Amino acid sequence: MRLTAAFLGLAILAAPSALAGPAEGGAIYEARCKMCHATGMANAPLIEKLAALDNQKIIDSLNTPVPMMAGVVGGLTDEDKRNIAVFLTKKSLPASGSLPEVKAE
Ligand code: HEC
Repeated sequence: MRLTAAFLGLAILAAPSALAGPAEGGAIYEARCKMCHATGMANAPLIEKLAALDNQKIIDSLNTPVPMMAGVVGGLTDEDKRNIAVFLTKKSLPASGSLPEVKAE
C-alpha cells in the first residue's frame, strides 16, 4: 500500500483529482516531505514523531513553516494540509467550515 502511494505520488502532481483524503496526503508526503522526515536530515523530526502529533499541530506547522520547509509548502491548499495531517496521524479530522471531513483509512 505504501509503495503504491509512492508511485501514485508521481501521478498526482499531474492529475490532482486522481486521489483524495489521506491517500492524497500520503502522495504529497512522498513527493515533498519524505526527503527530510524519513531520514532526519537537517534534524527534521522523523515520521514516527510527526505521527504522534495532533492534526492541528501539523496543519499549523504547514501554515507557518520553519524556514527549512518554506519552499515545500508553497501551493498546498488547506485540503492538502488536512489530508497530509490525517495521513501522518491516522486520526480523522471533522469537517471545518467549507472543508470536508477527512477520514483516516
Ligand atoms: C528540507 C527539509 C524538510 C522538508 C522537505 C520538510 N520538512 Fe518538516 N521539518 C523540517 C525540520 C528541520 C523541522 C524541525 C524544525 C524545528 O523544530 O526547528 C520540521 C518540522 C516539521 C513539523 C513540526 C514537528 C514538531 O514536532 O513540531 C511538521 C509537522 C513537519 N515538519 C511536517 C512536514 C511536512 C508535512 C512536510 C511536507 C509538506 C515537510 N515537513 C517537509 C524539515 C523539512
